[in-house]
Amino acid sequence: MTTVRAFETRDTLMRAAAERIAEALNHAISERGNAVAALSGGTTPAPAYELLAAMPLDWPRIAFALVDERLVPPTDEASNENLLRCALAPALNAGAKLLPMYVANATLDEAAARADAAYAGVQIDIALMGMGSDGHTASWFPQSPELDGTMNSARSVIAVTAEGAAGSSERLTLTRSALARAATIALLITGAEKRARLESQQRPRLPVDALFSLPSPVETLWAP
Ligand code: 6PG
Repeated sequence: MTTVRAFETRDTLMRAAAERIAEALNHAISERGNAVAALSGGTTPAPAYELLAAMPLDWPRIAFALVDERLVPPTDEASNENLLRCALAPALNAGAKLLPMYVANATLDEAAARADAAYAGVQIDIALMGMGSDGHTASWFPQSPELDGTMNSARSVIAVTAEGAAGSSERLTLTRSALARAATIALLITGAEKRARLESQQRPRLPVDALFSLPSPVETLWAP
């Protein structure tokens, strides 16, 4: 399964997550001259992104991709792009790029096809994953009719519908095969409930478990 790196406070957790992303980006820049981090949305990771954006990285060589997106415009509070644009503003102002998944004036399927084309050649150096208390990660929701597609599609991005998902039930998400190309995968979680769910031996298989059979081992970072 996974070894959990536990931190005493959320402040130290967020600092460690920011440092881990920075380390992966710096490593990729030294290896091939540029770097990509795929980042999750949700309520947990913004402080880590703010700490990251305050670091003196070679921002023009860095691009941020999304792990998943809700089908809402980037002006909407529920938009993961909006979250990244706000939290990463200093990095973006210093020349980092952002690769949106959302496409305006498109159906969910059209948006997914265009995001898939845009993300097809993207080499992900680090993917920062989150986890919901229902065991979803990215937009791999247990109740989604497209869960099988997220696991088995050869595409990088697919359309997903998930009743009750935060922000929008219509989602765009990286697939498991896209994450299989990521050099590093980190899972950032907070709270006793999520950790207990992740580590429980007496539970059904959850979408998040699919991360643990990817080629890159998952580094799980947690604080209460
Ligand atoms: C999203 C996410 C999603 C997130 C989890 C955890 O758009 O909803 O990218 O996969 O990481 O839902 O969300 P919380 O941090 O809010 O618990």
